[in-house]
Amino acid sequence: MSFNGKVVVITGAAGGIGKEAVKSFSNDGAKVTLVDLDQEALDQAAAELDLNDGQYITVAADVGNEAQVKNFIEKTVEAFGTVDVLFNNAGIEGKVLPIPDYPSELFDKVLDVNVKGVFYGLKYAMPIMKENKGGSIINTASVAGLGGTAGVSAYITSKHALLGLTKTAALEGAPDGIRVNAVCPSPVNNRMMRSLEAGFSPENAEAAQKSFAAAIPLGRYAENHEIADLVYFLASEKASFITGGIYTIDGGMKAT
Ligand SMILES: NC(=O)c1ccc[n+]([C@@H]2O[C@H](COP(=O)([O-])OP(=O)(O)OC[C@H]3O[C@@H](n4cnc5c(N)ncnc54)[C@H](O)[C@@H]3O)[C@@H](O)[C@H]2O)c1
Repeated sequence: MSFNGKVVVITGAAGGIGKEAVKSFSNDGAKVTLVDLDQEALDQAAAELDLNDGQYITVAADVGNEAQVKNFIEKTVEAFGTVDVLFNNAGIEGKVLPIPDYPSELFDKVLDVNVKGVFYGLKYAMPIMKENKGGSIINTASVAGLGGTAGVSAYITSKHALLGLTKTAALEGAPDGIRVNAVCPSPVNNRMMRSLEAGFSPENAEAAQKSFAAAIPLGRYAENHEIADLVYFLASEKASFITGGIYTIDGGMKAT
């Protein structure tokens, strides 16, 4: 699988899963646009991954802001000529609170980032892919899109909505050869889970981690690169007949 000359846009590129995805695609010759909230974090990610000049650009943007999403897609086309792959990966967890206590503004914010952020990405990338008669889009959903969990109403709602959006985009994109899929990771060993562990069990976050891991038949969290590997496959030509799919990557968690 080579991504030589292909143009890949990755949101949440300075975070756990996103950075590993940048690494996989850039190692295989892709030109990559790294998108995240904070320019400093993007510069740090690019330096850490030792990316070559001319092989990448960074754009600081909030995916919940339509104009900023339009801008990073336009900047990608200016720099590299097109968009072949879009990894809609940026997301936020919100807080762990019961529904009566959940701030309505925070509920909106989680949906703005996790759902509307993906909608904007689709909206501005799909016309470019349509011109190319093809492209691949991968959305990071979650096992939180496949069932409820008390305390995280906004996150659960957002990831369920994202699956509906993924399926609809797959149907709209199929006549033009645009494939759209979602990945649904179980807990991944990174910042977001540290935040959720502390939210579920402020007194003993480590105990929360143990109990989450115990609910996974393989007995552990995923590592960032394991999610990036699935995304890489779905983006590649090896996945040429795969669209509208919802891929759990969960150590067996949802097999029970
Ligand atoms: N960590 C997990 O256990 C887990 C499990 C299932 C799904 N996911 C999903 O994986 C995706 C990536 O998260 P992660 O696990 O790498 O966590 P992370 O917190 O390390 O990375 C998320 C990245 O998204 C960025 N981001 C947040 N809001 C943004 C915005 N408005 N605009 C642009 N960038 C923004 C953050 O700055 C961060 O770099 C998210 O969609 C998350 O919901 C994570």
